[in-house]
Amino acid sequence: MPLVTSKEMFENAYRGGYAIGAFNVNNMETIQGIVSAAREENAPLILQVSAGARKYASPIYLKKLVEAAVEDSGLPIVLHLDHGDSFEICKDCIQMGFTSVMIDASSHSFAENIKITKNVVDYAHDKGVVVEAELGRLSGVEDDVNVSAADSSYTDPAQVEEFVSKTNVDSLAIAIGTSHGAFKFKGEPKLRFDILEEVGKRLPGFPIVLHGASSVPQYLVEIINQYGGNMPGAQGVPEDMLRKAASLSVCKINIDSDLRMAVTGTIRKYFQENPSHFDPRQYLGPARNAVKEIVKHKIQYVLGCSGKA
Ligand code: G3H
Ligand code: 13P
Ligand code: ZN
Repeated sequence: MPLVTSKEMFENAYRGGYAIGAFNVNNMETIQGIVSAAREENAPLILQVSAGARKYASPIYLKKLVEAAVEDSGLPIVLHLDHGDSFEICKDCIQMGFTSVMIDASSHSFAENIKITKNVVDYAHDKGVVVEAELGRLSGVEDDVNVSAADSSYTDPAQVEEFVSKTNVDSLAIAIGTSHGAFKFKGEPKLRFDILEEVGKRLPGFPIVLHGASSVPQYLVEIINQYGGNMPGAQGVPEDMLRKAASLSVCKINIDSDLRMAVTGTIRKYFQENPSHFDPRQYLGPARNAVKEIVKHKIQYVLGCSGKA
């Protein structure tokens, strides 16, 4: 089976009240960990590449690794550009064979966001590629984008119908209180389910995307802190909130920070316990297993997409 788009995946997820996991990838071990979890769970999968990942690994390496994953697993896999910030990066990925791109023009005005998104949609649809856009702004830090809490804003449900009808976009990321990274809430975690429900009413059957959806498991924070790291106050989105979102109109849940923490925690622990080892396979192997373990957990208990491939 070749790489697929997310069209049918989202239709099934919407109807079935579950979500597809979209996991950020930068290297072989992470891809292998994610894919072996999805294979054991027979789960559909989105592997996504950010601008930072392109810079780090070079797009062709990631593309070939994901193709290897498709061939090796036989699973339906989408190769998606995460947070593309220009027409050019979207075009480049489409020309390379990505089956899905995100154009994130959420930092622009509403009218400009529509214009930029529509331009990408017209180009992508012509090539059979699907497009995700963003309305509203999440806070948090990524390689190329740093949005302070003061600059973030919830999605305004009154804008979504006009945005979708004018752009013809295939899915929409909305801001309901999640944020990128491992420090999402200062106090009690709170998501604006009222906004999600209102968007769902205004766009019946339309797939919504949740970014910043790592749950930052306490066991990973503890491992990192115990083995020389320092992440006091790290806090993610509680899993029951993510499950609720998946049962509503959210069809794609983006997870990156949890995988980073699984890799880093495992390697920190490994070196404290084996200070004289220096073969990278000795610590990258366990890191790959840790990715697999956390992705299996997500598929079973957060996304609900086990057996849906
Ligand atoms: O939301 C963004 C992802 O976590 C990717 O992060 O830009 O550091 O690769 P990155
Ligand atoms: P996290 O930082 O919560 O993992 O979010 C990742 C994300 O939204 C990628 O686009
Ligand atoms: Zn994101």
